Amino acid sequence: MISHDSRNPRPDQPDRVRILQFTDTHLLAREDGRLLGMNTLQSFQSVLELAQKHPWIPDVVLATGDLTQDHTPTAYGRVREQFQTFSQNVGKSDLQVYWLAGNHDDMSVMLEHLPGGPMQSFHSFQCGNWNVILLDTSIPGQVEGKLEPAELARLDETLAAFPHHHALVCTHHNPLPTHNEWMGEIGLLNATDYFSVLDRHPQVRISLCGHVHQEFRQVRKDVTFISSPSTCFQFKPHTIKFAIDEIGPGYRWFELMDDGTFATGVLRAEFKNWDYKPSPGGY
Ligand SMILES: [Fe+2]
Repeated sequence: MISHDSRNPRPDQPDRVRILQFTDTHLLAREDGRLLGMNTLQSFQSVLELAQKHPWIPDVVLATGDLTQDHTPTAYGRVREQFQTFSQNVGKSDLQVYWLAGNHDDMSVMLEHLPGGPMQSFHSFQCGNWNVILLDTSIPGQVEGKLEPAELARLDETLAAFPHHHALVCTHHNPLPTHNEWMGEIGLLNATDYFSVLDRHPQVRISLCGHVHQEFRQVRKDVTFISSPSTCFQFKPHTIKFAIDEIGPGYRWFELMDDGTFATGVLRAEFKNWDYKPSPGGY
């Protein structure tokens, strides 16, 4: 691991885009608030501390939903503060964090209280030879997700506008069933509509999601579908019913090459300060 001070504060590899993804932070209004017995702010901070030691500084950061659990202005302020501190600690004051909404978020509260500092609200951006598109799959009051016709049209138009850029498309909900049967029922309900748009644009390389609190990777028609660990608790894979995994919280990194290939991986923090308390109503 390269030490903090020896790193170049600017990207030194112009042939690639470097991204860190943080997802499902589930922060609460109360600083000492806990979810299933976990202080989600402390676990997020442990993941950010690990990411601060990453061998390179990201060009951009993605935050793929469920940023808060209680969708309060205070909790969204905490999300912004944490990323602000992260940008200062890595010495990149112009770091931009692109975000989308999850099922535990409230888009109207997000739009009002999240932007500022590093938090962007752009729906898509181009970086290097890549086009990154963030979609809203949230349905107010529902756990499962859906892409409304306007979002599908925006995806189609944004891909058509940059046919020579490789594309990374981000959703909160999982388009493919993951390792858990029960997760399929609360994933992206109209995944076939999503696939029909992707299938029209051969430059799509990656479909990235949060929501499932675990690592997952599967290729469908040359598109790699990827999910990532939460920055709080993890869901145990290969279970019929909801179950918590004891594996640590984490983040994902990407290096997106100009030729459309990419490298990615997950790093996990050692977060032991957790007294797990099951909740009969889920989480
Ligand atoms: Fe979540």
